[in-house]
Amino acid sequence: MRRSLSVAVFSGLLAVSALAGCGGSDSGSGDKGDDGTITLGFSQVGAESGWRTANTKSIQESAAAAGIKLQFSDAQGKQENQITALRSFITQKVDVIAFSPVVTSGWDAVLKEAKDAGIPVILTDRAVDSQDDSLYESFLGSDFKVEGQKAGEWLLKEYEGKSEPVNIVELQGTTGSAPAIDRQTGFGDAIKANPNFKIVKTQTGDFKRADGKTVMETFLQSTPDIDVLYAHNDDMGLGAIEAIEAAGKKPGTDIKIITVDAVKDGMTALADGKINFIVECSPLLGPQLMDIAKKVNAGEKVEKRILTEETTFTQEQAKTELPNRKY
Ligand code: AHR
Repeated sequence: MRRSLSVAVFSGLLAVSALAGCGGSDSGSGDKGDDGTITLGFSQVGAESGWRTANTKSIQESAAAAGIKLQFSDAQGKQENQITALRSFITQKVDVIAFSPVVTSGWDAVLKEAKDAGIPVILTDRAVDSQDDSLYESFLGSDFKVEGQKAGEWLLKEYEGKSEPVNIVELQGTTGSAPAIDRQTGFGDAIKANPNFKIVKTQTGDFKRADGKTVMETFLQSTPDIDVLYAHNDDMGLGAIEAIEAAGKKPGTDIKIITVDAVKDGMTALADGKINFIVECSPLLGPQLMDIAKKVNAGEKVEKRILTEETTFTQEQAKTELPNRKY
């Protein structure tokens, strides 16, 4: 640690620590140690879902395993907290910054500040809509549009050869977030192939179980003949299942349910027949992120877009996969 920077480092740490929920492996210094240890400032979205909890665990464990000092900050779902955290990381002169942006827009100014300070930035899990892709080194994560398409394609097969109208309700993720935008677009593109499909209601449930439940309650009250629920993540789907059961209907039978993520709770509901199909979105980004952080810190060139490998699960496949599920 360079002593001359101690004041800036201290005030920066205060700013990060002031974000409620800040935790993880706070090293106490943003500077590369004399031993060459890399300090990675990571700003997480929050703890809105089982997926997010697994993602945080993966990043914290991988940093420890890779010998990287992690400055972890939880934004509690607020973009302004993330911007404050990123500025604090810049003040502390961390070696590398990574973050999972709450929403896609509004990042150019702070990304430019990081670039001007010579700190490489890695986007993990979610994209930004910046036109200037020199503002970040790499984007590691899923293709959310493809996830939405996979959900829609399953539904097309499910109703193949049938001519009745199909009323679909949609629980969207956080408004303005990359997964909410892309999962909606991908699904919409796929289901266009069947003119009988109609999205009769669509509303955000903010990727949270409790919100999934309350929004589904209102859907059920206003729309008696719902055939299908498409939820942008497992947690909202699980909340909706509670609402469906409370309304005296059988989830998975009276209302078909498709979700995204494939966390353990979702997979359990799938194996139990309460969900019909899950598109996987892997939260285990930690090992790849640490690899990229080491490379960009060493000035090596990395791929601009690194895609996560993912699959889908039917009810039968969930029964086989469940015992091996890590998150
Ligand atoms: O960005 C990934 C999404 O964010 C996950 O699908 C969802 O569960 C999470 O909160």
